[in-house]
Amino acid sequence: MLSREDNELLTRTGPGTPMGELLRRYWMPVVQSSELPPGGKVKRVQILCERLIAYRSPSGTAGLVAEFCPHRGASLYFGRNEEGGMRCPYHGWKFRQDGQCVDMPSEPAESSFAAKVRTTAYPCAEAGGIVFAYMGPGAPPPLPEFEFMRYPLNHVFTSKRVQDCNWFQAMEGGIDSSHISFLHAPIRHDAADITTDMDRVSFGVGAAVATGDRAPRFDVVDTDYGALIGARRNEPDGRWHWRVTQYCLPFWTMPPAGQGEKVIQSHIWVPMDDTHVVNWMVTWHTERPLTPEEIQLHVEGKGAHVCDYAPETPEPYGDVRTAANRDNDYFMDWDVHRTTMYCGIPGFGVQDQAVQESQGGPGGIVDRSVERLGTSDTAIIHVRKLLMTAARALREKGTPAPGVDRPASFCVRSTSIVLPPGAPWADAVQPLVAPRPNQSLTPA
Ligand code: FES
Ligand SMILES: [Fe+2]
Repeated sequence: MLSREDNELLTRTGPGTPMGELLRRYWMPVVQSSELPPGGKVKRVQILCERLIAYRSPSGTAGLVAEFCPHRGASLYFGRNEEGGMRCPYHGWKFRQDGQCVDMPSEPAESSFAAKVRTTAYPCAEAGGIVFAYMGPGAPPPLPEFEFMRYPLNHVFTSKRVQDCNWFQAMEGGIDSSHISFLHAPIRHDAADITTDMDRVSFGVGAAVATGDRAPRFDVVDTDYGALIGARRNEPDGRWHWRVTQYCLPFWTMPPAGQGEKVIQSHIWVPMDDTHVVNWMVTWHTERPLTPEEIQLHVEGKGAHVCDYAPETPEPYGDVRTAANRDNDYFMDWDVHRTTMYCGIPGFGVQDQAVQESQGGPGGIVDRSVERLGTSDTAIIHVRKLLMTAARALREKGTPAPGVDRPASFCVRSTSIVLPPGAPWADAVQPLVAPRPNQSLTPA
């Protein structure tokens, strides 16, 4: 339970808000690199309540500029993607990638007005097939060095989708290791209903569900990059089954991989505005390219990726709105619900989306002043405090955002491990969750 004031602090991300200012100190995923052809079609996006246009110049550098022209507000979506900058379609003003107006053909040739006009533009960088932007003040920090960024792109599968809810309640689902025993589980916890697909693409859910223990005990360890979250279930033989989630500042989560699993998955929960979030998902193989069959499982929604989209709209990220949504009850199958699965919504990713969007009703922001938290919410309480503390420290004392000066520390994995009762889990998983700089790296 939070005060209304703290709930506002956590959930509001526009310019000038404490959380919005904190988030702007980190690199923000914008679009996949493959979405931006050089000199070609641009993308409408929205990040932290700002409407923006992502584009790639004819010579290949990615740019991110305010959607609406500083002259009289026309959308640069319809503009001309030229060498040296984006040109507004209305009167031809041209803006360099750093935002400076460099040509104003609607003004007399002797005018120096262009030199006085700037638009909002953000520096971009690319890694792991993703275009990132830095929307904060001052010089950008180094990019965080996530493991997938080291590999050839054929090791990686990335998708994204819009969810109609606040970013933080969506991200809470990413560190909530407790819900898999319910939302994603079969009704009966026996092997007959725990499918191969479920384990293959879904974070060792089957093995955890098979323990029969639905009340995991949580332990959280602070790290340079965020937090390491252990959720313990008791195996029938008395050993402890730990599912280990990574939380990486400010909005990356890695749900636990199965024991010995080489496929690692992560979500990135990027606020569009305060009632919409882009739920990115990045999956990578630590040793080899993903096979077409593995990718197909994800494309078909058998894991947590959702790639079944509604027809494109002209809204920001209007090409990644899911076909299953609130208006059609997320394709709920009541027969499956009655006979087989705890929730009859098809696909783990859509199940997550349905409950996250349902929290607190259709207003988009759950009211945490009336929630009733239990011990299974330990990790969520921890991460809320971590972010609220960092946002307040930045606002009140100018304390730098945690982790931005430790980019290498972000190279971590999630895992699962079975240990004797009482064994120190955080020490035991260290070799599994922190790959050394060149471990498992396949040459490009
Ligand atoms: S509105 Fe953009 S140049 Fe006039
Ligand atoms: Fe989930």
